[in-house]
Amino acid sequence: MTDVSIAVAHLVKRFGEVEAVRGIDFEIRRGTIFGLLGRNGAGKTTTLECCIGLTKPTSGSVRMLGLDPSKPHDLGLLRPRFGAQLQTTSLPEKARIGEVLELYARYYGLRPAVAALCERVGLGGKERQPVGGLSGGERQRLALALAIQHDPEVAFLDEPTAGMDAYGRRVLWGEVEHLRQAGKTVILTTHYIEEAERLCDEICIVQQGRIVARDTPARLIARAGGGSTVTVEAVGFVPSDGVARAGRWHHEPPAGGSDGGHWVLATEHDPGPVLAEVVRAVDEQGAQLRALDMRRATLEDAFLNLTGERIADEREAGAA
Ligand SMILES: Nc1ncnc2c1ncn2[C@@H]1O[C@H](COP(=O)(O)OP(=O)(O)OP(=O)(O)O)[C@@H](O)[C@H]1O
Ligand SMILES: [Mg+2]
Repeated sequence: MTDVSIAVAHLVKRFGEVEAVRGIDFEIRRGTIFGLLGRNGAGKTTTLECCIGLTKPTSGSVRMLGLDPSKPHDLGLLRPRFGAQLQTTSLPEKARIGEVLELYARYYGLRPAVAALCERVGLGGKERQPVGGLSGGERQRLALALAIQHDPEVAFLDEPTAGMDAYGRRVLWGEVEHLRQAGKTVILTTHYIEEAERLCDEICIVQQGRIVARDTPARLIARAGGGSTVTVEAVGFVPSDGVARAGRWHHEPPAGGSDGGHWVLATEHDPGPVLAEVVRAVDEQGAQLRALDMRRATLEDAFLNLTGERIADEREAGAA
């Protein structure tokens, strides 16, 4: 038990007719970076809000560090031990960044280290700026600073990089690394595939209030078929002999009805030697190679296979 930071069992949350969470179970071991990955409305924020005592579960239970956040007494004991960066953090708009950080520090009985904290989250030199004038990404950074400044054991980050530019994302990723090295538990939500794959030790894929899969990023990819795709465009090439046995080949005709088209190989083998074999076969057949491409399966493929849906916005994240 002592090794488990968060235990969620049979969690259900209804808002009137809407069943936002439909029976979610997971346990998160101390020191794990745990991701909830899912599309808009999947129930990620609601799950997080139940974990931090902001929303009362309709049924089921949550334990954080052995305590029940739905009970005011336990929540009081938990407050100094966790931090949360929520999707909609309400902040005093007229106050300056430095003042807000000081206020929170004093709430936790800490000596404020405003300049260092601002530097840490990429808001260096902005201490005197009013909160109301911050950009979306800057507000996110301030919310992150507020979530981590008291050095909590557990950090909840709800889409921490939504609306952030590439620099902001990297700052956040660095901060999560920092939390990992300090042995903290992090539970984050995201729609950004790359972010989940890069940061998380474990991922739960959430769809319509349920967990459809939970595993390490690598095992999710492997479970959903793993493998790689090799695409060959070569005039006169036909997969035969050894190379024909490298996996499943199919021919895609050319788009405009002109000559050629290309061959696509789906393979479970290590793609490096397979590529070498393809090049050798093209050469032996005297074919003329025009294009050769290899792509390993990604978490995005796993998400698609497991949910039947594409996750939104991953192109934008991929650009970071
Ligand atoms: N207070 C509320 N009242 C009514 N319905 C709600 C409330 N909060 C959430 N919902 C509904 O519950 C479902 C899950 O919402 P939730 O915010 O948990 O999704 P999410 O996975 O965090 O989505 P997103 O990626 O858009 O942040 C949605 O259909 C949402 O409209
Ligand atoms: Mg949400």
